[in-house]
Amino acid sequence: MAINSCCLLLVIVSVIWSTNSLCASYNIDPIEYEESPTSHWTMNGIAYVGGKLCNNIPLTHMTAHNAIDTIVFTGANWIQLVVTQYQKNINSTFIYPTNDTDTDDEFISAISYAGMRDLGIMISPRLELEDDPGRTPEEIGTFFREADWVDWFGNYSQMVFHYASMLGDVPILVSLGSGLEATSWRDAEWRNLTKKARDKYPRWSLTYSANSCGEESNITWWDAVDFIGVNAHYNIPRYGHDSYRDYKFVDNQIKFWNNIVYVGRSFEPGCYMTKSLFDLKNKYNKPILFTEIGFCSGLQQGRKCLNQSIDLQFQDASFKAFFRVFLLQDWFYGAFIWHWVPDPNIGGPEDWNYTPRRKPAENVVKYHYGGFGFATEFTHGHILHCNTSSLI
Ligand SMILES: *[C@@H]1O[C@H](CO)[C@@H](O)[C@H](O)[C@H]1NC(C)=O
Ligand SMILES: *[C@@H]1O[C@H](CO)[C@@H](O)[C@H](O)[C@H]1NC(C)=O
Ligand SMILES: *[C@@H]1O[C@H](CO)[C@@H](O)[C@H](O)[C@H]1NC(C)=O
Ligand SMILES: *[C@@H]1O[C@H](CO)[C@@H](O)[C@H](O)[C@H]1NC(C)=O
Ligand SMILES: *[C@@H]1O[C@H](CO)[C@@H](O)[C@H](O)[C@H]1NC(C)=O
Ligand SMILES: *[C@@H]1O[C@H](CO)[C@@H](O)[C@H](O)[C@H]1NC(C)=O
Ligand SMILES: *[C@@H]1O[C@H](CO)[C@@H](O)[C@H](O)[C@H]1NC(C)=O
Repeated sequence: MAINSCCLLLVIVSVIWSTNSLCASYNIDPIEYEESPTSHWTMNGIAYVGGKLCNNIPLTHMTAHNAIDTIVFTGANWIQLVVTQYQKNINSTFIYPTNDTDTDDEFISAISYAGMRDLGIMISPRLELEDDPGRTPEEIGTFFREADWVDWFGNYSQMVFHYASMLGDVPILVSLGSGLEATSWRDAEWRNLTKKARDKYPRWSLTYSANSCGEESNITWWDAVDFIGVNAHYNIPRYGHDSYRDYKFVDNQIKFWNNIVYVGRSFEPGCYMTKSLFDLKNKYNKPILFTEIGFCSGLQQGRKCLNQSIDLQFQDASFKAFFRVFLLQDWFYGAFIWHWVPDPNIGGPEDWNYTPRRKPAENVVKYHYGGFGFATEFTHGHILHCNTSSLI
């Protein structure tokens, strides 16, 4: 009997194994990954954005907890919880939650569930503009006078500490800000904020999520945080290929990333990084963490995904090239894939947005994060409107 069940088990295991190999040979070119298939980064992360901007599924809902389960299925070991408050326009200094802000109860529910699923917790409080058409949060502070900086940093640090301190002094990672390009040159104020966090919450790790193409190499206070955080939306080129399945296409993207890593000048216009990632980590002797990494599965203009020409293979190839380059860097601390939302209808083969969920790219992530199985979710047929792209 014991022998029989053992054999049965072997049969089942080998069936699963060969199924996986079949899937793998379809989705992943094994030659590309010979060297280093499984990530040894410390943080194999996924960013999770609350449902208020995306069909209003509260984080307390079972559906939202299920979304966290599907993050676990990818093999991810860290989750980044994004929460958003608002200010009226780029000149305002008053910061407040709106109906689009996840409530504290919802936020705590997501943290607790993620903790129960053994995920490391990164908290990323963010700012959006409630009423300033044509402007972006990157421009907050552009016209501030000295007195405004005092008010803004006063209110802003209250907002950050409100979310970050919900669990108290426990070993979480806190992103003190994200893409606030027109504020991050205020060296003294940001150092003040890091010092406040260090004094009161010595067990936190700290980072800041700098935008790629300028802010990451401009910041002067990286020495005050633990990781150099980059929202890594470099302008990946699409030239030099006949087919995205062609390994040469992945090769071209690898060249592009190697340029970002070692040379530090983008081929693309509008990218103003002044230092390579390698020089940046050497200058501050800090590991680099991609606080966001993602690619539209359709046409992309800057950081925006355009609602046209769905292109799952471009996204798939982009993730392959990204992993291929960064799995080999021993100073690379990890990455947070952009992004998951509670609603299981978001994603899938008809969606042109960032999420890899239920797209070929999800299997690339799973392959490297060590997730088990493929196709862990039912396929939902349609796309619903989702406003999270405003957070990019
Ligand atoms: C912000 O201030 C600038 C400079 O004073 C001004 O030109 C702009 O209109 C202001 N924006 C808003 C929304 O008040
Ligand atoms: C926010 O929600 C409250 C309570 O549901 C509602 O009364 C209010 O009108 C909402 N505000 C906006 C701006 O939608
Ligand atoms: C927050 O902003 C308001 C309005 O701009 C200002 O009056 C107040 O002093 C600020 N709060 C802090 C703690 O700085
Ligand atoms: C730093 O924080 C201290 C205490 O909160 C404050 O007195 C000081 O003005 C701050 N400095 C800057 C540059 O914000
Ligand atoms: C980087 O710094 C330069 C020089 O101070 C400034 O002109 C530019 O706007 C900054 N770019 C970003 C993205 O912070
Ligand atoms: C793309 O946007 C257009 C116009 O905004 C809309 O009519 C169309 O339904 C969208 N496409 C899909 C697939 O949702
Ligand atoms: C999303 O944004 C559109 C306009 O950009 C707005 O009309 C719609 O109400 C927003 N939906 C949600 C759920 O916030």
